[in-house]
Amino acid sequence: MLENITTAPPDAILGLTEAFRQDPRPNKINLGAGVFKDEHGATPILASVKAAETAILAEARTKAYMPIAGDPAYRQLVQEMVLGAEHPALRARRVRTAHTPGGTAALRVGADFLKKACPQAAVWLSRPTWANHRGVFSAAGFAVREYAYYNHAARSLDFEGLKTALRAVPSGDIVVLHACCHNPTGVDLTAEQWAELAALAAGRAWLPFVDFAYQGYGQGLEEDRLGVLALAQACPEMLIASSFSKNFGLYQDRAGALTLLASGAAAADAAFSNVEIAIRVNYSNPPAHGALIVTRILTDPALRRQWRGELDAMRTHITGARQRFVAALRAHGVPGDFSFIARQQGMFSFSGLGAAQVQFLREHKGIYMVGDGRINVAGITAANLEYLCQSIAEALS
Ligand code: LMR
Repeated sequence: MLENITTAPPDAILGLTEAFRQDPRPNKINLGAGVFKDEHGATPILASVKAAETAILAEARTKAYMPIAGDPAYRQLVQEMVLGAEHPALRARRVRTAHTPGGTAALRVGADFLKKACPQAAVWLSRPTWANHRGVFSAAGFAVREYAYYNHAARSLDFEGLKTALRAVPSGDIVVLHACCHNPTGVDLTAEQWAELAALAAGRAWLPFVDFAYQGYGQGLEEDRLGVLALAQACPEMLIASSFSKNFGLYQDRAGALTLLASGAAAADAAFSNVEIAIRVNYSNPPAHGALIVTRILTDPALRRQWRGELDAMRTHITGARQRFVAALRAHGVPGDFSFIARQQGMFSFSGLGAAQVQFLREHKGIYMVGDGRINVAGITAANLEYLCQSIAEALS
């Protein structure tokens, strides 16, 4: 049976990391996967994480299974981080959270649960979106459709196109939205636009499923809740997938969460019992380590302060990298106006480079980026900036 199966293509994002590793060129640059890098191009463990980890290891007494939905303390902390501790939905006890192995598992568990809850629904993704969204929802058995999001000519949000598309989404369908730092474009909605979108969601009665992978990387930990809060105010039900890969730098520890808001406490309990079944049949119960670190940091005031400082520093570093990149492109006489890169937020920039240029940069220069021209801005350092700009100038000529 296994002789008949054809080879699958490498993953559009994580496959780049592998190809980059195998590239022998000394001046190669990895602008592929969304991993934070400091000014030396390293992805260090946060000091707050190291301290929490040391304490956890010293105190650990057991490796017994976690509950199916994870540690209750972690789940409550996630709810407070995502919605704010005083959110009325928390007081109304209509929010439930499961600890999942990263944001991807949160999306997949949510998708499996929704396939059971609303088997006829279709899932709507922004065009463009994170390359793995389509894979996750298709794997769960959903038909996947797209709504307009990005105006390539203006290099900005196509809000009119988005509204037109989402007004036509049938009631009961599922719409995947990016809470902040839209992946791959870096283009987000304003507060007014979120309010309009939330009213539209409530009016049309489609279900928002929010991917919240970059909380703290846009404007700040609280500021980045903007879209989630607008939707939670307008819509009785929604799902939120959180990832702590980026904001705690816990990429390999797979710490994430799926949060669901239901119309009331009883509905939340019923829905959540099915989420637990989706978890049990997929991976039984979550890996503890990353979540223990998050819990420790968020419950220890000194560690929490330290982590907030480190998170703010990562965000500021990327903002600076954007500005330095725009200035350097101009200084190298690269044709075109790249000022839009400084206006985008989060880790990614939709550079506008086409497939041929992306291929040229990879093959001839050892510069790796996602095929749609998405650049991980955090991968740009003082040491590689000049080579990068020269190479882009060549690619464009
Ligand atoms: C990315 O978009 O690069 C990250 O979310 C990593 C991944 O899993 O694709």
